[in-house]
Amino acid sequence: MTPSIKPWFPIRTERLVLRDFRETDFEDVQAYGSDPEVTRYMVWGPNAPDDTRAFLARALAQQTARPRLEFGFAIEHAETGHVIGSAALHLREGPNRPVELGYCLHREWWRQGLVTEAASALIDAGFRTLGLHRIAATCDVRNVGSFGVMEKLGMRREGHLREDRQVKGEWCDSYIYAVLADEWSRR
Ligand SMILES: CC(C)(COP(=O)(O)OP(=O)(O)OC[C@H]1O[C@@H](n2cnc3c(N)ncnc32)[C@H](O)[C@@H]1OP(=O)(O)O)[C@@H](O)C(=O)NCCC(=O)NCCS
Repeated sequence: MTPSIKPWFPIRTERLVLRDFRETDFEDVQAYGSDPEVTRYMVWGPNAPDDTRAFLARALAQQTARPRLEFGFAIEHAETGHVIGSAALHLREGPNRPVELGYCLHREWWRQGLVTEAASALIDAGFRTLGLHRIAATCDVRNVGSFGVMEKLGMRREGHLREDRQVKGEWCDSYIYAVLADEWSRR
């Protein structure tokens, strides 16, 4: 991983703050993580309170890991201070480290361009500050909203993965999308 000297987060966008999760985010996280509509295409959820507690414990542990490879940020709505979702960059070690983007939003806030806004800021930081070369994302082929975000971000669909993951006990197909640093800078 390219070392970053100055802190590159929290990230502020027009309507959001992307920051590390805190234990006190429990109620906000439980609100979206327990919604079966939100978790419909996710390998996790809907979450019971204990799942949310475990998620937050993992998130807090990842914040202190060195090197830190997991940047799972809370999406805080700047105006209200509530956490309304999450946006993450998952890094791995090694010269050809694959980097994956993920996101999730409370249903009340869908279709307002918020995840596009959050993910765009995260990708920008990934390329400009962390010096990443390529950022990929996958989603269930039925998750129109998720690949809608990827396409709006200018990510390119690279493939259709057949039954690559189990969602709610069923093997499901995924699309893989990606964007390269030079494509991002030419936007
Ligand atoms: C998928 C999800 C992240 C989209 O977040 P969002 O903030 O509503 O997305 P945006 O408003 O930025 O949408 C960007 C584009 O995606 C498409 N899109 C988003 N949601 C859509 C939906 N429900 N149906 C059809 N297209 C959709 C649209 O083209 C949209 O652009 P437009 O509004 O200008 O037409 C959100 O619905 C969500 O959290 N879903 C549950 C969790 C999840 O599936 N996460 C992804 C796992 S891979």
